[in-house]
This record gives sequence, structure tokens and C-alpha cells, in this order.
Amino acid sequence: PTVDVSSLIDTTNGVVDRAIFTNREIYEQELRRVFAPSWLFLGHVSQLTKKGDFFTTYMGEDPVIVSMDQDKKIQAFLNSCRHRGARVCRADAGNTKAFSCTYHGWAFDLQGKLQNVPNEAGYNEKFDREAWGLVPVAQLDTYRGLIFATWNPKAPPLPEALGDMAWYMDAMLNRDPEGTEVVGGVMKWVLKGNWKLAAEQFATDWYHVNMSHASALMVLSPTGKGPVSGIANTPGRQYVDPQGHGAGFPTHPKSRFDAQAVHEHYDYDALRDRLGAARVEGPMTTGHATVFPNFSYLPVNGSIRIWHPKGPDEMEVWAWTLLDKSMPPEVKEAQRLYNLRTFGPSGIFESDDGENWSEVQAISHGFITNNTPLNYQMGLGSERHDGVYPGTTSELYSDAAGRSFYARWADLMNTPAWHEETE
Ligand code: FES
Repeated sequence: PTVDVSSLIDTTNGVVDRAIFTNREIYEQELRRVFAPSWLFLGHVSQLTKKGDFFTTYMGEDPVIVSMDQDKKIQAFLNSCRHRGARVCRADAGNTKAFSCTYHGWAFDLQGKLQNVPNEAGYNEKFDREAWGLVPVAQLDTYRGLIFATWNPKAPPLPEALGDMAWYMDAMLNRDPEGTEVVGGVMKWVLKGNWKLAAEQFATDWYHVNMSHASALMVLSPTGKGPVSGIANTPGRQYVDPQGHGAGFPTHPKSRFDAQAVHEHYDYDALRDRLGAARVEGPMTTGHATVFPNFSYLPVNGSIRIWHPKGPDEMEVWAWTLLDKSMPPEVKEAQRLYNLRTFGPSGIFESDDGENWSEVQAISHGFITNNTPLNYQMGLGSERHDGVYPGTTSELYSDAAGRSFYARWADLMNTPAWHEETE
């Protein structure tokens, strides 16, 4: 069965039906029509440096292995044995020559090809090893160190799928000519809440900052009284991407809240030469962003994260600390600790956000509650080309990128994916 979501998302009037966060059929349709066809974030190239390095992750709910093969090429394939379906790799990360299934012992090489079958003589001549390798992704590409892949052979190339969003991403990914790296492993935690609550907030929601994070902002304030009114009146912009990506950022150089050591490390004049003043004093400040559907980041904290869907009511957050490669070790360590304090699993900002999403989800199954729609009307009609930032932007305090996130989501939900096409 397919749910027509047209009546659930009204982006013209800015109204969203709560069934999109709670309905199981809608959730399963998302796995088929939003996650399976889209480019999804897998990890960072610095997680794979030697032949045989690998890590495991998910694309939607599908488990995948990402490996570096004999030719140092990055490969990604389904982490499910073709024999009886067991997970062939249960480790989070490591280095190996092959992936051996612990059920009956089929072994697969670094490209996912079936390499060894115990008691192969028990199969007759029709058995074709080549045909029983692990299912590879259809396309894999990287953007400035970020690894993305899709199951969809017909998806547009990654640069096209990112579009103008790449310009905004470069405020984090292209500050350093040497690029970026991740440090300290992957932080993973479970949250009660639909994955879209988090993805949408990172695309569009600066509005919650003053209220939800008021106490955290006071803690960070040098006076202890908090920069709340300063933040409330912060000028800024929100980037609204037709493919569902979004980013919000204050446009003020003093709006940065990163570790002091990082501030002192940056040569802002050199950065302005490299990235342009508008980008340094805009998207590089204390902003937030989502690459549709479920990859989000915070340029100033160095936090990159993915919201793995785990049913309509639960998500698993996987987060990394991303740093400029050429930062001195003590600056890297200061930024790593700063990211942990603010947006680690128990960070002072992260816990505010997680509580909001869980709170929203906890009551959304009530019958009357679920039939009471939600308001996404802030900044209706404010979207425009402002002549400074690429693409369409809106006000910093706006739901515009949220509306376009759901417009893209609804479009995918109502369109048969490549695997449903008949001819
Ligand atoms: Fe993997 Fe049988 S399930 S070898």
C-alpha cells in the first residue's frame, strides 16, 4: 500500500500533519521512497586510511559495510549474507582481509565478492559464486572528505544533488587547504523521536535557540548573565534549497561560540580571502545545516551527525568531531572537548534538543493530538534571492527551509522510486 501524502503537507500555507511523525506505513514508505533513492552520508574518508580498513553503518535501516579495498578504493555494500541473511560484519570498525559470516562461514572480500564457501562441493555446477556477492551500492562519491552513497542507479551525480548547498558546506569543509579529518571515534546514542524532527530542526530552526538553550547560553557567557538578548536580535539568513537541504546562520563575526583556542588559531583575513567575507561572517559562524535527508552539521562546533531512522518513534544519532587537518594538536584537542561539552551525547545544547524531540514524540500518538496539525508559517513568502548568498534565502528566524524540506520529502513520497518502475 502507498500513502498519498499530499493532504499531510501544505507548504503553501505552512501546515504539517503529525501523522508524518507517527504512522508506521508512512515510515515504511520513507524507507522505500526517501532513503533508498537518495544520496546518504556514510562517513569521512579519514576513517579509512589503509587497505582493509572498514567501518559499518546504516543507509536508512539497511546495514552497510564501508571498506578500503586492495586498490585503496572505497567500497560500500549491504552487510547481510546472501546465504541466510546474517550480518557478515558485527564490528563497528577495524582492519581485515575478508568478512567471514559467523553462521556457516561464507567469506567475502573487501569488495563484497564471495571468496570462500565451506563445503562448496555440496553445491552442484549451477552454483555461481559471482552471483552471490554482497549487494553493492549503486553509486558512491565523496565531497571534500564526506563519503556519500545511494542504492539508486538513476540518482543524479552527487555534485548535482548537493547543488548550491556545497557553497554553504564549504564554510566548514574548505577552511583549510589540507581539508578536514575526524577525531575521537563515532559517538552513538538512541533518542525517542522521529528522525525528521532532528533533520528539520537543523535545516530550519534558529527560533528555538533563545528559549531552549537559554541556560546553556548563560553558562557560556563571560558575564554569566547570558548573551540572550544579543542572540535574540542577531541578524542572519537561512538558506532554502529546492532539494530539501537547509542552513541557518547569524551574519555577525562575533556570533561564534567556539573554543577560544580555535578563535585564536584562525587567521580571519586569510579565511576571508579564501572563502569570501560573506561566507566567513555568515555560514562559518554559529550556524546549523542539514543535507537532505538525514545528515546535519554545525560548522562552529565541528559536529557532523546522521539521524538514523529506527522506526517512526526512534532515531539513533551518530556524531563525529570534524576538524581542520592543519590545526595544531592543542587546538584540535580544545575543539574536540568543546564539541563534547556542547554537542556530545550529554552536551549542554544537545540534551536540550533531544529532550524537545522526545517530548514532542511522546504525546504525538494521542488521537486528538495526532489530528491537530502543526504550524510552519514563519517567514511565509519571505524567500528570495538576496544578491549575497547563492540560491534562495529567507530570514534567520523562519520556517522556509523546513517547508522546502517537507516539500522535497512529499515529492519523493509521492513519486515511484527507481525500484518501482515497471519497464
Ligand atoms: Fe552467512 Fe550462512 S548466513 S554463511
